[in-house]
Amino acid sequence: MFSSLTSSFASRGREPVRVELARPETSFLAMIEPRTPGIDAVSWCRQHAGLLKETLHQCGSLMLRNFSCNIEGFEAIADLFATAPSSRRGQVSPRHQVQGTVYTSTDLPQNHGICQHQEMAYDLFPPRYIMFYCKTAPLSGGETPVADARELYRRLDRRLIERFTREGVLYLRNFPPDSPYQSAEETFLFEDRAELDRYARDHAIDCEWVDDAYLRTRQHRSAIAVHPDTGDQTFFNLAHLWHWSYIAEVATAFSAALADKVRSTRGQDQWYNAFYGTGEDIEQSAIADIHGHYGELEVAIPWQEHDILIQDNLLSSHGRRPFDSKREILATIRGPWSTPYTGPLALI
Ligand SMILES: [Fe+2]
Repeated sequence: MFSSLTSSFASRGREPVRVELARPETSFLAMIEPRTPGIDAVSWCRQHAGLLKETLHQCGSLMLRNFSCNIEGFEAIADLFATAPSSRRGQVSPRHQVQGTVYTSTDLPQNHGICQHQEMAYDLFPPRYIMFYCKTAPLSGGETPVADARELYRRLDRRLIERFTREGVLYLRNFPPDSPYQSAEETFLFEDRAELDRYARDHAIDCEWVDDAYLRTRQHRSAIAVHPDTGDQTFFNLAHLWHWSYIAEVATAFSAALADKVRSTRGQDQWYNAFYGTGEDIEQSAIADIHGHYGELEVAIPWQEHDILIQDNLLSSHGRRPFDSKREILATIRGPWSTPYTGPLALI
């Protein structure tokens, strides 16, 4: 199938392009480059929108390289896939608006890598697409490695997949008044409790006020997705990222004291944690297994200016490697998808 797509691109384009797999031994991540650098990305993508979508379904992620494109063009290309921007409410990663629907990819400290994840997989309406644009390439490091969620689903232990399929994942978040991270207000963007209550009801979030200034939330979600267009089953959850053991790692980027606090806090007071849908602990060995397989599947392409990375958020994941120079990677997140809700909340 992939070869038919490459020949379609080559023969239909006014300006011929080269379409290659980043790793020829897999069908994941297509690299699309004009044979003559600098042709206009927007007009080329408009002309080939159908084939781009077909290739995205096949390969999970696409990178457009050596086209001419600015931020406005990046937004126009994103519009070809889905015009509706995804809501920022409930997001874990801090980011700020650059223009229109374009935001910084993340404002998390640059000295810490971010593990593979699918954008907002904990949300009831997670995005269908996430797209990145390289405004300034880092001198070294700072890649946005990507991985194949279908292949991860195939590789993981069947008993873990069966349990995740049956029970889903329960996500726990605590917002104590002295939280070192985003407050509840900054996360859910509400001005009063009535507004939060409405949002929480519509998004199947269980809110518990520990005291007047301390919110605790629980979200029970599916852990496996069935792609609405391809029918593929994919790993689609962030248990490995929300698990306290990974949060302790992330906390080290802020301070050693915070990391110690995360490691020493247990039960329902943990800053973030993920459980099986019944509320039982996920074994650390299972979390390590997920991280390990992701590590094997990662494909990291060093950024070049004007690169555009397009991801089907259900079929592929992304992360970020540390860096120590200027790096401007922008993102637009599009097209909400409604996940099947797995059932009543299990209290822990
Ligand atoms: Fe992300």
